[in-house]
Amino acid sequence: MSRCWSVARGSHGRWLTGEAMRHHWLLLGACGWVLLILMFVSKFIGFRAVDDYGGRVGGQSWTVQGTKVVTPILFSKPVQPVPKPSDQPSAVPTVTDWQSVVESRLELLSNVCKNSSFTNTTHAAISKFVLDRIFVCDKHKILFCQTPKVGNTQWKKVLIVLNGAFPTVEEIPENLVHDHEKNGLPRLSSLAPQEITHRLNTYFKFFIVRDPFERLISAFKDKFVKNPRFEPWYKHDIAPAIIRKYRKIHRNGELAASGLHFEDFVRYLGDAEGRQRMDRQFGEHVIHWVTYAELCAPCEIHYSAVGHHETLEQDAAHILKATGIDRTVSYPAIPPGITRYNRTKVEQYFAGISRRDIRRLYARYQGDFQLFGYPSPDFLLD
Ligand SMILES: *[C@@H]1O[C@H](CO)[C@@H](O)[C@H](O)[C@H]1NC(C)=O
Ligand SMILES: *[C@@H]1O[C@H](CO)[C@@H](O)[C@H](O)[C@H]1NC(C)=O
Ligand SMILES: *[C@@H]1O[C@H](CO)[C@@H](O)[C@H](O)[C@H]1NC(C)=O
Repeated sequence: MSRCWSVARGSHGRWLTGEAMRHHWLLLGACGWVLLILMFVSKFIGFRAVDDYGGRVGGQSWTVQGTKVVTPILFSKPVQPVPKPSDQPSAVPTVTDWQSVVESRLELLSNVCKNSSFTNTTHAAISKFVLDRIFVCDKHKILFCQTPKVGNTQWKKVLIVLNGAFPTVEEIPENLVHDHEKNGLPRLSSLAPQEITHRLNTYFKFFIVRDPFERLISAFKDKFVKNPRFEPWYKHDIAPAIIRKYRKIHRNGELAASGLHFEDFVRYLGDAEGRQRMDRQFGEHVIHWVTYAELCAPCEIHYSAVGHHETLEQDAAHILKATGIDRTVSYPAIPPGITRYNRTKVEQYFAGISRRDIRRLYARYQGDFQLFGYPSPDFLLD
């Protein structure tokens, strides 16, 4: 599997791909897409619990208005709203006030970017790695930075339709959603430098975030607990490498069998220096847990909106309106509670993990908490 880990990172955190490495990537890509397709197919067939929502946007659907009416793309199973009140007090303003919410978020973002106390976890070069994350919709002048686990496949499908490669969302073959050679939704990295600059300066740019610790829990569950068969590298390569380095007590023979514990994962993530070499080996797979600051460079790129998973309904409506596509596409109601922050879950996952390890983790992800206005999880840190 070592050929899979072929993205190299330069000494200044920039991502480079050499010719030899590209060759390896092609090999990986061939088997990777087959696995991905199988994974998607299994999602349609498999049973999904409400708690699995974690970003797959279960029970909701996109509709594209116009000639053809479109229906649920991924999951038709209705998800019951969870009526329990939020763990975090928040009076959610209505969509009409949402512009002011969006603006105050951007103002906070800009202030935190300028604040030297957070520089080490808020800034990132606009590297190839970042440009690879950003998808281009030229027809409607939209740039979308993809952050995993917040319903991004849905956004990509809609942008593919808007770009005109397919008339409706459900006519996009599953294997094409992530095939950016063929789906008419190019990555920003595929364009020439001048074209990139022009789009960064003039297009509507957005991405979606969620509470940083909940995101890590979601990534852990998805990649190391649930996802054993179709993305085997998480369990067979990445997990053993993390265990070897970060599990306090282990016997070598048991590495593969024992599985990654959340505690191992937290220790790895919080090890600012030690994990750099590992992350280079892990290649693109790190997109599931590197900071939003590293994925989308929000201090360097002046985004027009940053949606929150926790308020996805309002944010989706706002983004569609702001980009002028609200008459073409609509984002259906999201059952309340489904995207809500769950403090009980966070407490459960971090129970038994040492304060020292949690503080290190927080230090690493502090930028994401600050940039996007998520309250620091003092109940875990004190
Ligand atoms: C930077 O952030 C720190 C910690 O939140 C805060 O105390 C300080 O006032 C901020 N500085 C500026 C210039 O906003
Ligand atoms: C929060 O998480 C806990 C533990 O995972 C779960 O039992 C509970 O149902 C969740 N609450 C909500 C409102 O989803
Ligand atoms: C970033 O700097 C702050 C203090 O300025 C420190 O507490 C934190 O540990 C640093 N984080 C990382 C990941 O180096």
